[in-house]
Amino acid sequence: MWRDLAPIGRNTTTNGYRRYAWTAADTDCRAWFQAQTEARGLTYELDRNGNQWAWLGDPTAGDAVVTGSHLDSVPDGGAFDGPLGVVSSFAALDELRARGAHPTKPLAIVNFGDEEGARFGLACVGSRLTAGQLDKDRAHALRDADGVTLPQAMERAGYDPEAIGPDPERLARIGAFVELHIEQGRALDDTTDGKDTPVGVASAIWPHGRWRFDFHGEANHAGTTRLEDRRDPMLTYANTVLAARKKARTAGALATFGKVGVEPNGVNAIAGLVRGWLDSRAPDEETLAAVVGEIERAAVERGQRDGVDVRVTRESFTPVVEFAHDLRDQLSGLLGGVPVLPTGAGHDAGILSASVPTAMLFVRNPTGVSHSPAETAGEDDCLAGVAALAQVLEGLACH
Ligand code: GLV
Ligand code: MN
Ligand code: MN
Repeated sequence: MWRDLAPIGRNTTTNGYRRYAWTAADTDCRAWFQAQTEARGLTYELDRNGNQWAWLGDPTAGDAVVTGSHLDSVPDGGAFDGPLGVVSSFAALDELRARGAHPTKPLAIVNFGDEEGARFGLACVGSRLTAGQLDKDRAHALRDADGVTLPQAMERAGYDPEAIGPDPERLARIGAFVELHIEQGRALDDTTDGKDTPVGVASAIWPHGRWRFDFHGEANHAGTTRLEDRRDPMLTYANTVLAARKKARTAGALATFGKVGVEPNGVNAIAGLVRGWLDSRAPDEETLAAVVGEIERAAVERGQRDGVDVRVTRESFTPVVEFAHDLRDQLSGLLGGVPVLPTGAGHDAGILSASVPTAMLFVRNPTGVSHSPAETAGEDDCLAGVAALAQVLEGLACH
């Protein structure tokens, strides 16, 4: 399975993945998922929001145990964020069948669409729509960098954008959702306590969001405009990036400007507009709001000195997620007391947790690198992840 997925959407120059929602690479990933489903004689379902499901047992029976993740990527993402969960789900199911386990509940594997939000700027679109956390009008207004709207992109990929919307009936059929994911930090690799821990269980997801900062100045000639006559938004932007780092550090939070757009983007022109996207995360919502507020204030104050107008738009927000304690304890027990750790990364599991008992398994990442082609996990650890997931599915669905 890993070999089949490896070439899909990989940029041969960077070796990073560019599997964006509703593109040709996404279509190929989806075809792979459907083929894996059919090869195992599972029942294939495509839901109204473009999420794919593979069912063992009756999809309508209720109290289903669902596992899975996503196949899309960030720009130049790694191979594991998302696909490890989907591949491990199929492998864990194979393992259960090989053992002759008899599920007494329906089991399903899901591939949620557009988890990373790389193309339309909003993460977890497939699960948010399903859970009623994103309404149809807002989804229809999403646009990519080329101005293509989400409905246009869906239509071009052969899906019906009019069908999207909440799917409470589908969620009501799920008794538990477990997402396996590569760890996106090094907590499991911290072997200072001498434990060999390839797998952990998630406790919580930090609240996080995305804010667009528009710095409006005045485009002008780089060679003839006196410094005192300039209204250069690049200066305000640069100072805001530094302020963000400082505010985050003092608050024990995270703040990152990882995406920027400049107009007119010429070497010999002072920029007229700089657009920077802030991703910020913190252990609690109060801290997050305070950090973002301080960054905004710093931007506005600096803008006044630079003659630059600053506008801030919140593009997305995900509240803190505390995973269901009993399910989390049940998993940790089934796996013999593995570490329980929080994460700063967003996941479909976080979205679903508002409607369904949800848990996550993390697989050790020796470098902690993620959202980069350097993301990696050892084969033995991946297999330990599959074994753990099989154990969990058996514990949840076979008794
Ligand atoms: C998703 O991976 C996110 O945390 O941004
Ligand atoms: Mn990710
Ligand atoms: Mn992910």
